[in-house]
Amino acid sequence: MPSKVSCLYLLTVVCWASALWYLSVSRPSNSYAGQPTIPVRRAHKAGKNGTFSNVRARTLNPHDFGYLVNEAKKCEAEAPFLVILISTTHKEFDARQAIRETWGDESTLADVRVVTLFLLGRSTDAVLNQMVEQESQIFHDVVVEDFVDSYHNLTLKTLMGMRWVATFCPKAQYVLKTDSDIFVNMENLIFNLLKPATKPRRRYFTGYVINGGPIRDMRSKWYMPRDLYPESKYPPFCSGTGYVFSADVAELVYQTSLHTRLLHLEDVYVGVCLRKLGIHPFQNSGFNHWKMAYSLCRYRRVVTVHQISPEEMHRIWNDMTSKKHLKC
Ligand SMILES: *[C@@H]1O[C@H](CO)[C@@H](O)[C@H](O)[C@H]1NC(C)=O
Ligand SMILES: *[C@@H]1O[C@H](CO)[C@@H](O)[C@H](O)[C@H]1NC(C)=O
Repeated sequence: MPSKVSCLYLLTVVCWASALWYLSVSRPSNSYAGQPTIPVRRAHKAGKNGTFSNVRARTLNPHDFGYLVNEAKKCEAEAPFLVILISTTHKEFDARQAIRETWGDESTLADVRVVTLFLLGRSTDAVLNQMVEQESQIFHDVVVEDFVDSYHNLTLKTLMGMRWVATFCPKAQYVLKTDSDIFVNMENLIFNLLKPATKPRRRYFTGYVINGGPIRDMRSKWYMPRDLYPESKYPPFCSGTGYVFSADVAELVYQTSLHTRLLHLEDVYVGVCLRKLGIHPFQNSGFNHWKMAYSLCRYRRVVTVHQISPEEMHRIWNDMTSKKHLKC
């Protein structure tokens, strides 16, 4: 789901009403097992030459955008344990910098290799494109594909991340896809959830699982036209604010997307691809879809928290770092 809720003043009430409705249908449960089962379609089988040779498969979305900025060699020297893909927009310079200086710093965890990348499309503003390009020359952590960067193209941004991992970093073990206003507790994510010392998982997908259905109210931010998605329920999907998967899933979702009709809600769309693949996202209570007031002990238990400003990011990070020795 989109990170920043911005409604017109007059529509505020309506927005809240639909947000509440959304909440009421999207209560997560503690385990995947207890959820109503949704028929799972047979996964597409990869052909001998590695491509998907399903005869019914038509390339609906070729996703053949060129790279305007790329970091093709990021994974060349050594495959990372975790690739962090952060969906961002051009103007969010502060948010990117805050992430670089806090949880996204690739060098904080001495023994675990992490690669952090910010994902963007092309801005319609030439100056902004230029500024991002300069930023990338300094930090080498930006990838830009040649599609129009807009809220309705967020799905393309996620797919570009999946394609990047499949193409330039196929030996990575895990991928975190998140947004630029998310705080991530890296210690928890890496050592308590993913556990580098254990056998790598395959076809693994976790986050804040939402079981909901399409909103047909055109005024809603999450409006889904009936002709685009006629079913009354979405497959279980993980909130786009933060989800984690084993890196094999990147290629699977990317390939599946080539012949799956695009939906503008990126997290719903990934859920649709996962259903086709027969991969079940499972609930992890550490992923917080909503904002959560800071307290040291509370934040020690989370994996992600939503709606954190760049200033808060620094404050939280400094507090947690300086109080490492304290017990909760
Ligand atoms: C892979 O196999 C598919 C289906 O058999 C075929 O259409 C395609 O051309 C092949 N690609 C390569 C690179 O050999
Ligand atoms: C999404 O990107 C494509 C490719 O650049 C562009 O043609 C299309 O207009 C964009 N859609 C929106 C809603 O911005």
